[in-house]
Formats: sequence, structure tokens, C-alpha cells
Amino acid sequence: MEEGCSTPVGTRRSFFVKATMLISSIIGFSLAVPIVGYMVSPALKRQPKGWISVAKIEDIPANEPTVLDYSMTVKDGWQNSQSTKGIWAVKRDDGQIRVYSPICPHLGCGYRWENQDRLFKCPCHGSVYDMEGTVKAGPAPRPLDTLPSKVENGNLLVMYQEFKSGLPEKVEL
Ligand code: FES
Repeated sequence: MEEGCSTPVGTRRSFFVKATMLISSIIGFSLAVPIVGYMVSPALKRQPKGWISVAKIEDIPANEPTVLDYSMTVKDGWQNSQSTKGIWAVKRDDGQIRVYSPICPHLGCGYRWENQDRLFKCPCHGSVYDMEGTVKAGPAPRPLDTLPSKVENGNLLVMYQEFKSGLPEKVEL
């Protein structure tokens, strides 16, 4: 080989190999994104909301917070499964009913009704609410979250929703 005429063949070859790999990766990625999006999108779609009958109103005692099963079909991608939430219903003396989400608005724990104190209490950080859902103690930033409800033909119908925790206002997820 003449001095001064050497060709950096290895360097040029490795450049083309790397460039080819980069271009192939870009093409592969640009094809993969829409395919993955198409496959995953059913799982990410929000569930349609609907009214579900949870109890006969005559079966809900007045002034005794009552936990009711809200059973719904959850579409998880291409599979349907049953999910049950324990929602709280409070019937007043005048027959008005309020329904509360079972999720504490502080950081999302489940709370319970303590009958001897006549208060809802959350075991996680000590938030306390009265029967109206008003915060009486603890770090909860807002009252208990009410769920849309209505009475039809003697049945209590509820629409389940979830809200962001830790905020002073109700923001639906
Ligand atoms: S999650 Fe209920 S008090 Fe913190």
C-alpha cells in the first residue's frame, strides 16, 4: 500500500452499517407506534357511564348510612369483567337520599361509618366526616364526594364516578 493513499474502509463500512441500522430503527418505530396504538386503544377508552339500580329505597333505613353494592361490567381491553364498589347511601327523614363515593377524598383510602360516634372515619390519616359528608377533622381537603343519584319506580339509581384525590375541589378522573 502506498503511503498517503490508504482508505479508511473499516470506518466507512461501519458508518454505513450504523446509518442503515438507524434508518431501519426509525422506519420500524414509525410503523410500530400506530400498530401498538391500535392494539392498546380499546383498553384506554373510558367506559360509558350508566345508571345502575342499587337498592329499593324502602330497604334503605333513615339516618343510618348504608353501604350498597354497585356492580358494573368493566371492559378491560377485549375482556369484560365484573367489578363491585361499596357505595354509601344516606337517607334523611324527609326521604332525600345522598350517595357518597367509597373513596376518601384525601388520598383515596376506604372509610367506614362508626355508629357510636355517628361519623365517617378514614383509618389512613384520620379524616372524619359527618353524615352530610362535611369534614370534621383530619387532612381531607374537601367533603365526601357525592355521586349522581335518582329514584325511579321505587329504586335508587346511581352513576358511579371517581375523582382526583388531594384537591380542594371535585375533579372527575
Ligand atoms: S386517605 Fe383518608 S385520611 Fe388520608
